[in-house]
Amino acid sequence: MPYLWPRGRTDLKIRVVLSIVFLILAIGATTVSQQFLGAAVDEFGTTPERASLMVVIALVAAYAMSRVLMQSFAQLRDGVFAKVQYHAMREVAVETFAHVHTLSLRFHLERKTGGLSRIIERGTRGIDNILSFALFSIFPIVFQVLIYSAMLYYFFNIWVALTAIAMVAAYAWFTFLVTKWRIAFRRDMNQSDTDANTKAVDSLLNFETVKYFNNENHETRRYDVSMERYSRASIQSQVSLSMLNSGQAAIMALGQGLVLVLAAMMVKSGEVKLGQFVAANLIVIQLYQPLNLLGTVYREITQGLVDMEAMFRLLGQPQEVQDKPDAPPLNVTGGEIKFDNVVFGYDPERVVLKGISFTVPAGKTVAIVGPSGAGKSTISRILYRFYDIQGGAVTIDGQDIRDITQHSLRAVIGIVPQDTVLFNDTVKYNIAYGRIGASDADIQEAARLAQIDKFIDLLPQGYDSMVGERGLKLSGGEKQRVAIARTILKNPPILLLDEATSALDTGTEREIQSALNKVSEGRTSLVIAHRLSTVVDADEILVLDRGQIIERGRHSELLALGGHYASMWNKQREAAAAREKLKEVENDPDVAPGVARATPA
Ligand SMILES: Nc1ncnc2c1ncn2[C@@H]1O[C@H](COP(=O)(O)OP(=O)(O)O)[C@@H](O)[C@H]1O
Ligand SMILES: [Mg+2]
Repeated sequence: MPYLWPRGRTDLKIRVVLSIVFLILAIGATTVSQQFLGAAVDEFGTTPERASLMVVIALVAAYAMSRVLMQSFAQLRDGVFAKVQYHAMREVAVETFAHVHTLSLRFHLERKTGGLSRIIERGTRGIDNILSFALFSIFPIVFQVLIYSAMLYYFFNIWVALTAIAMVAAYAWFTFLVTKWRIAFRRDMNQSDTDANTKAVDSLLNFETVKYFNNENHETRRYDVSMERYSRASIQSQVSLSMLNSGQAAIMALGQGLVLVLAAMMVKSGEVKLGQFVAANLIVIQLYQPLNLLGTVYREITQGLVDMEAMFRLLGQPQEVQDKPDAPPLNVTGGEIKFDNVVFGYDPERVVLKGISFTVPAGKTVAIVGPSGAGKSTISRILYRFYDIQGGAVTIDGQDIRDITQHSLRAVIGIVPQDTVLFNDTVKYNIAYGRIGASDADIQEAARLAQIDKFIDLLPQGYDSMVGERGLKLSGGEKQRVAIARTILKNPPILLLDEATSALDTGTEREIQSALNKVSEGRTSLVIAHRLSTVVDADEILVLDRGQIIERGRHSELLALGGHYASMWNKQREAAAAREKLKEVENDPDVAPGVARATPA
C-alpha cells in the first residue's frame, strides 16, 4: 500500500486515480462494443434482405471504434501508471541497498554477494508485478465479473447468469488450489537461482586461485550442480503451469458451452433474439479475459510475494551495532584514545582480547606488535566500532564510543587497513574516495605525500588509469600507497595504521615511513606493525600475544628488558643482516663461487 499510495507525492496519487479512471473507461468501452455487434446481428433479423446495410455498417463501425477506444484507454492507463510503478521499484531497491550498507561487518563477512544482488533484483521485480496486478487486475476482475453476470441476467435469465458465476467460482477454486501447490517449485527455483549466482560470483572473484590449482572443471561442475537444480525446479514449475492452464481451459470451455446451450434454447423458444445469442458468446468471452488474468494474477502475486520474502527478510535484518537513541556526535578535543580492560570475542566460545588496557595520549603514537593472530587487527576493528565489546570500555577524549554516533566516530579516524581493496575505477577516484569532492591539487598533494605520485606519472593514463577489479592491476605496495594517500586526504585527527607498510619492500617502506611519520605528526596514532624497525620511535610499544599485553614500554626499555620484544628484535635484525650479506655475495663474483649467478662467467 505505501508504494501504491506514496505519502507526500500528490502527483503520483493523481496518477493512480487517473489510471483507475482510464481502467473504468476501458471496461465501459468493451461492454458497449459487444452491444453494437449484437445489435448489428439483430438488424439482419430473420429476413436479412430487408435489413438496412447502412445501419449495419454504422453499428460495425461503432463496434470497431469502441474496440479502438478500449485499447487506447488501456494503454493510457499503463502509461499514466508507469511512473508510480518505477517510483516504487526505485524506492524499494534504494532502501534495501542503503539498509545492506548499514548492516554490521559480521553480516558482510558472512554474506554472499552474488546471492544478495539476486535477492534485491528479484524483490524489486516482485514489487513491480504486484503493484500493477493488484491495481489493474484484482479490482477490474471483480468489477467485470459483476457487470457481465448482471448483463447475462438482464438479457437472458437467472440460470444463464448462475451458470457463468458457477464457472467463475470453479475456475477460481481450481486456480487457487493448483497455484498453492506450485509455490514450492517457485521457492525451490529462487533458492537454486540464488545459490547458482553465489557460486558463480564467488568463483569468478577468485579466478586467480582457480587458475593456480587448475580447478576450472571443478568450479564448472559446482556451478552446473546448482544450475541443474534450478532447471529441475523450473521444469516442474513449467509443467505444473501447463496443467493449470489445461484445467482452466477445460472449465471455461464447459462453462461457455453451457451458457450457449441455455441461450440457444431461449432463442429457439423466442424469448430472445438471435443477436443476443451472439452477444452472449461475446459476453462469456469477455468474462474469460479477466478470468484468464485472474489465474496469471494470482500466480504472479504469489510469486511476487515469494520473491519479495527474501528481500524483506533482508530489510528486517537488525543492525548488530546500533547508535543509542539521541546519541550525540563525538566531540574531539585532542584525540586521546583509551582502552580500559577491554574483553572481546567474535564468538562467545572464544575470547580474542582478554582485558586490554592502554592509553594513547593526544597527539602521541602507540605501537602494537606481536605474532599473527594475536588480536592486533581486532583492536583496530573495536576502535572503529565494527563490533561491540563484551567487557570494559573504549573512550575517545573521555567519551565512550558506544554513547556517540558511529558516523561521527568514523569521521575522525583514518585507517590504512592490512589488506587494501580498491574500487574498480580510476586511481584518482580511489584516492579521492578519502574526501569525495576533493580538488585535483589536493589529490596530487596526497599522492605526493604517500609517494605514489611518481608511479602514477609513469602510467600511460596517469590519474585516470583504471586499477582493475578490487585494484588487482596494482601491486600490493602500490595499492597500499593509494590507501595511504586517501587517508591523508581524509585528514583525520586520529590515525590507525594496520601493518600499513608490510606489503612494501624495506627500501620503499623506509621512504613511506618518513611520509607516514610526517602525516602522524600532531595526530593521535595507533600503529600496528610487523617490522619492528618501523616502530622504534613510538611513545609506547605494546607487545600483544594471544589477546594479552605481555610487555610494554619504549623501544630502549623493552630491549633492556631482554624479553619477547628483545628476542623478536634480534631475530629480525639477524634476518635483515643475512639479507644484506646475501646481496653483497651476489654482487661479488669472487667471494662465493658456489652461488649461482645470472651472468655466465
Ligand atoms: N570475523 C572473525 N570471526 C571470528 N574470528 C575472527 C574474526 N576475525 C579474526 N578472528 C580471529 O581472531 C584472532 C585475532 O585476529 P586478528 O586481530 O586479525 O589478528 P592479528 O593480530 O594478526 O591482526 C585470530 O585468531 C582470528 O582467527
Ligand atoms: Mg592483522
